[in-house]
Amino acid sequence: MSIKHLVSSNQLDIDFLFNLFDRAEKLRQEGQKPLNNEILATLFYEPSTRTRLSFESAILKLGGSLISTENAKEFSSAIKGEALEDTIRVIDKYADIIVLRHFEEDASQKAASVSQVPIISGGDGAGEHPTQALLDMYTIWKEHGTLQDLHITIAGDLKYGRTARSLCNVLSQFKNNKITFVSPKGLEMKDDIKNNLRGKKIDFKETNDLNTTLQDSDIIYLTRTQKERFENGEEINNSLQINDQSLESLKKEARILHPLPHVEEINISLEKETKDQRIAYFRQAENGLFIRMALIEHLLNK
Ligand code: CP
Repeated sequence: MSIKHLVSSNQLDIDFLFNLFDRAEKLRQEGQKPLNNEILATLFYEPSTRTRLSFESAILKLGGSLISTENAKEFSSAIKGEALEDTIRVIDKYADIIVLRHFEEDASQKAASVSQVPIISGGDGAGEHPTQALLDMYTIWKEHGTLQDLHITIAGDLKYGRTARSLCNVLSQFKNNKITFVSPKGLEMKDDIKNNLRGKKIDFKETNDLNTTLQDSDIIYLTRTQKERFENGEEINNSLQINDQSLESLKKEARILHPLPHVEEINISLEKETKDQRIAYFRQAENGLFIRMALIEHLLNK
């Protein structure tokens, strides 16, 4: 399958995923530079460390070049009232591919509807983060050697956390996985994602208690509370946390993932973080570089 833009995790079918995994592995091992100075623009209206810098590193490693605005809300002409569509219709004359992070849920779709060059969503509000789902699936595959027959615990702010939503959309294509959602009251996974899982007959359950699911999990995917997205002055009591003691109840092949940045939901000592192979979130962030290289190459038809 070939795609022009990547604006939703629903575009990521199984063949596409495995083709990209293969290519990411080759790019990691061989360090090829298939591009001929093509330009990637990063247009970020929300803060980012990993997504923006990994895309920027990816284009440079592929042999391309970069233009960037890291605080587009303030330092682009958006502040003068320019519509996103107009901004895109200008940047598509300057760049061969655009990565957009925006605070509105349909921003990437809007951008793709007018862009002459590929648009990649780098995260749309509380909606979607498809390239995070790509690197999450790539990491699960690298760590477990399969994307099936796994018990995946997804914990934290599942209401506003876009990475958990996109991950579930992609996971829903794979058979015989079991998902446990763990969230504090008020931050449960929304119905659209749960209905998709029901429609595809994916076994899932919901709980508020992280400790009871840890010992049986192959993946523990934690997420941060997205306080900046709270709409109604929510007062949420979120005590979900993985710490040194919780590690004792995990299986030896279990892996802890997190899209990062993490705050108090992970409280693991530096020593354990460095030595315990079950802690995979820094390898996960590294995987983002290679899978994004493969994605850029695909969208530029190289
Ligand atoms: N995972 C992720 O999207 O991180 P950043 O916000 O740092 O890009």
